[in-house]
Amino acid sequence: MPRFELIATTTFGLESVVTRELERLGYADTRTLDGKVHFAGDERDIARCNMWLRSADRLLIKVGEFHAPDFGALFDKTVDLPWSDLLPVDATFPVAGRSVQSRLHAVPAVQGCVKKAIVESLKKKYNRFRFDETGAEFAVEVSLLRDVATLTIDTSGDGLHKRGYREFAGPAPLRETMAAGLLQLSYWNRDRQFIDPFCGSGTLPIEAALIGRNIAPGSGRSFIAEDWPWIDRKMWKDVRTEAKDLRQPRMSEPILGFDHDPAAIRLSEKSAAEAGVGGDIQFRIQEISELKSSREYGVVVCNPPYGERMGAPEEVEAVYRELGRVCDSLPTWSFYVITSNTWFEKHFGRRAPRRRKLYNGRLECQFYQYMGPAPPRERSAADSGATGEAAAPNTADEV
Ligand SMILES: C[S@@+](CC[C@H](N)C(=O)[O-])C[C@H]1O[C@@H](n2cnc3c(N)ncnc32)[C@H](O)[C@@H]1O
Repeated sequence: MPRFELIATTTFGLESVVTRELERLGYADTRTLDGKVHFAGDERDIARCNMWLRSADRLLIKVGEFHAPDFGALFDKTVDLPWSDLLPVDATFPVAGRSVQSRLHAVPAVQGCVKKAIVESLKKKYNRFRFDETGAEFAVEVSLLRDVATLTIDTSGDGLHKRGYREFAGPAPLRETMAAGLLQLSYWNRDRQFIDPFCGSGTLPIEAALIGRNIAPGSGRSFIAEDWPWIDRKMWKDVRTEAKDLRQPRMSEPILGFDHDPAAIRLSEKSAAEAGVGGDIQFRIQEISELKSSREYGVVVCNPPYGERMGAPEEVEAVYRELGRVCDSLPTWSFYVITSNTWFEKHFGRRAPRRRKLYNGRLECQFYQYMGPAPPRERSAADSGATGEAAAPNTADEV
């Protein structure tokens, strides 16, 4: 099978999470640059990574990269790339573009130039003058950054955050890929109680249940590359079957999702059922002030109102104060909070020992991390040198 240079794109701040996901899938040789994790793979890897990557936005094939200070260079070097190895004679190949700090900044002209160059390249190989573009779609992107053009083909189609379980979302939902990233930045694992006290449409509890039961995030959707004639359909079928076989049984502890809005709870229940994890999560209408637990070493990961898209400033401050009080009452628990509110720590009542800058959509946020003690079982595993959550934090680029 031919090898490709593959790129898992991700949002700023989650690159190390995607790298770790790829390592767990068996891809040790990765290279990270500007929200992109590069690695090598074949057709089966395209199917596996689309199926299993939880925090990546898309999976692309890199067709080529070169210096393109003018249209002549862009055209000639695009013609020289091996397009006919990837695009069948009937391929539909729309070209999208973007340009940052580059001399070629008129994006429609850049797209037109690349489209013409691909046609020219295919004409030579297929000995034809016209291409009707009636077949499978190969979405090409030309991305110019400081005069370097990178040409890619998307293998995912809809972004990977579209898992297929959510028809409607609440007013300020977290992307599924971001939710999975936050969970993987925390020390939560399936043996620890998990609570999201501001669950909204349920994204964090649902993603936690998918992780806890090892359910592939892509198992409920299709991918654009499934229509490509040179990837055997049986390969996709095998990857889906393998994903089904790898599912774990129910967790001993149900995941808990609370919100004071009854409409949010109804939405969460519907999406969880759609995702196949309805039986793994208990959703309940509940105010943050009512949050308590008799369990120890639990984990809260949450996305409270920020005061930007929802909540008046005084209400939001009161919510953070209340969350701080809950945190004081659960000394063995770990708390992880994402918010764009720069006064969060003041109202919560303590500085976070660790935080990480992340973007929720276009909004610059901090992910505040208050780690409680590790549970005794994990602590002894860490002492004995085993690599579990307790022994292997993902802290490389945090402050
Ligand atoms: C930013 S949204 C959470 C979105 C959620 N992560 C999602 O993906 O849909 C914040 C949620 O907190 C809830 N909320 C606000 N104040 C609350 C309070 N005092 N107690 C419980 N829930 C509250 C809101 O109803 C809203 O659903």
